[in-house]
Amino acid sequence: MGSSLDTRLRSELNQFKSDGVYKSLNHLDSPQDSRVIMEGHGEVIILSSNNYLGLANTREVIQGGQDALAQYGAGTSSVRFICGTFTIHRDLEQALAKFVGTESSLTFVSCWNANEGVCPTLLGANDIVISDQLNHASIIDSIRLAKALTKCASAVYRHSDMADLEDKLRESQDRRTRLIFTDGIFSMEGDIAKLPDIVELARKYDAIVAVDDSHATGVLGKSGRGSAEHLGVFGEIDIITSTLGKALGGAAGGFVAASAEVCDYLTQRSRPQLFSNALPCTVAGSALAAVKYLENHPELVSTLHDNAAYFRKRLLELGFKPIEGDTPIIPVILGETSKAIQMSNMLLDAGVFVTGFGYPVVPKGEARVRCQVSAGHSQEDLDHALSAFEKVGKTLDLI
Ligand SMILES: Cc1ncc(COP(=O)(O)O)c(C=O)c1O
Repeated sequence: MGSSLDTRLRSELNQFKSDGVYKSLNHLDSPQDSRVIMEGHGEVIILSSNNYLGLANTREVIQGGQDALAQYGAGTSSVRFICGTFTIHRDLEQALAKFVGTESSLTFVSCWNANEGVCPTLLGANDIVISDQLNHASIIDSIRLAKALTKCASAVYRHSDMADLEDKLRESQDRRTRLIFTDGIFSMEGDIAKLPDIVELARKYDAIVAVDDSHATGVLGKSGRGSAEHLGVFGEIDIITSTLGKALGGAAGGFVAASAEVCDYLTQRSRPQLFSNALPCTVAGSALAAVKYLENHPELVSTLHDNAAYFRKRLLELGFKPIEGDTPIIPVILGETSKAIQMSNMLLDAGVFVTGFGYPVVPKGEARVRCQVSAGHSQEDLDHALSAFEKVGKTLDLI
């Protein structure tokens, strides 16, 4: 029984299964932490979460959400401009702007929505967005939407290739606005955008720079203020988008941080803002508590980097070849998709949860397991994970 749509989808789902690209969700019965309780597997060390600072299960962050729930109830019950917004949203937006070094900020229910708000709202038919080849899907979809709605132009430059970016800027000098859009940390590779060069090119060609710092907020820079702090261009990025769903508490939500004019314009015109509810109060409360916690505990950032450096060094000593870099994203390239999936399954059997990624998420022949280290991991967690890597690596003849 079922509709013809169900029949078609079932057949496509079966095809995903036979192609080995079907995703099964793992169910957790405990908070996100360095170890989680996974249905069918018991306690496992998690190396595939964006809980970079371990704040998702920190007392102050949970308390912040509970207090906001008690004070404001569940939510705004409508969009902000129609029914009002809560002071905790304003407090959070002020705290986020100060934290990432901009005049203003505006929250959205996800960074996906924040990115989707940027290009279609700020660009018109005379404008162009110039995007790094490896940008996140949410930036790509923001650009696709902008092209369909506003008829703006787009160009893609080879990953972190500044000569190619300069060519694209040179070719688009007749455009009213040139917006360069890049990830701060590229999520699948773990490398960092060349922001000082990008800022310099933007100045030379009178362009605007937008950076999606979802993997860098709370992670890069001495005090976790992101890729701009890390690279010495703090305060020089025109538009920063980021998530509250990773280092800053891990619940959900995103934001655009920029000039007062950009944020006001997005408040007036961006469709995810105009036609969708505000961030739930619990999420705003937890995120605000996370920002404050991080401001008072900058040592979390150095613990994160010490953990990442230790894990990377020990993987190399074991004979693995992680992609070089200095972020907590440590991908180990395995080649074929089936190998990455097999390794991920074997690691899970050995008590370590790390996801394998294959084509089309990453290029053919570059399937990988992507390890993400957290400040919440203890030395014992990391050593336990490393011995599982050693055991599985030897069984699979990888080391
Ligand atoms: C670079 C980047 N941008 C945006 C997002 C989307 O963030 P959110 O979960 O807040 O929608 C992600 C999430 O994976 C991301 O990695």
